Amino acid sequence: MIKLKTDSEVELMRQSAAILRETLLLVGKLIKPGITTAALDTVAEEYIRSNGAEPGFKGYHGYPATLCTSINEQVVHGIPGSRELEDGDLIGIDCGVIKNYFYSDSTRSFAVGKISREAEKLMKITKEALESGLEKARSGNHLSDISYAIQKHAEANGYGVVRELSGHGIGRELHEEPQIPNYGYPGEGPVLKAGMVFAIEPMFNEGTEEIRTLEDGWTIVTKDGKLSCHFEDTVAITKNGPEILTR
Ligand code: MF3
Ligand code: CO
Repeated sequence: MIKLKTDSEVELMRQSAAILRETLLLVGKLIKPGITTAALDTVAEEYIRSNGAEPGFKGYHGYPATLCTSINEQVVHGIPGSRELEDGDLIGIDCGVIKNYFYSDSTRSFAVGKISREAEKLMKITKEALESGLEKARSGNHLSDISYAIQKHAEANGYGVVRELSGHGIGRELHEEPQIPNYGYPGEGPVLKAGMVFAIEPMFNEGTEEIRTLEDGWTIVTKDGKLSCHFEDTVAITKNGPEILTR
């Protein structure tokens, strides 16, 4: 069952998402060669707590940190630590916030110093795919219209779409129904309605779509070691179309 949120619940989620948006902007400003991912994590956690909110991921199924910091061939769920960012890295910063008992979830990818043209293109296309998915988050559309819009973008550019990981409904829980794959045929699945709130999150690989998990049990990397990129926003479906809460 897809849980519909009332207007007042969407307002509570808007507040959660506003803190998350500010957190990612703050972390984004600190990204430069030499900073450790642990330092970014500390800044994010302190900012979230100072706003009367809690990190959404810390403790979730035992996840140890506030951010997921996924560098280059890391697709998602990279754990912050002593690694220093290097010129030319591509880093995805994924963060969740709980405020008013509601989650919000968003990811921004950033260039560290100067990145390759290939990396720039992968970032641009992944971001554009997110935009086209968000645009389909409208009442009357089918769920898989979002998936199809995202996949089309990847394939037009020869990128692999990660199959095992999806977007999701979000609310009082981080992961609610439905799952929102980043691939699929249009016109399938439930019809979208005002009050649904989704986290839409394309993950595109420069090479193969195949992934594997590292020994730490969390970090997911591309099987071929090539670059991957991830963007994510939390969006509410309203009478007036998609409202991107995390912007
Ligand atoms: N955006 C990710 C997701 O929706 C973040 C979850 S990380 C976890 O799955 F640590 F909380 F699992
Ligand atoms: Co998510």
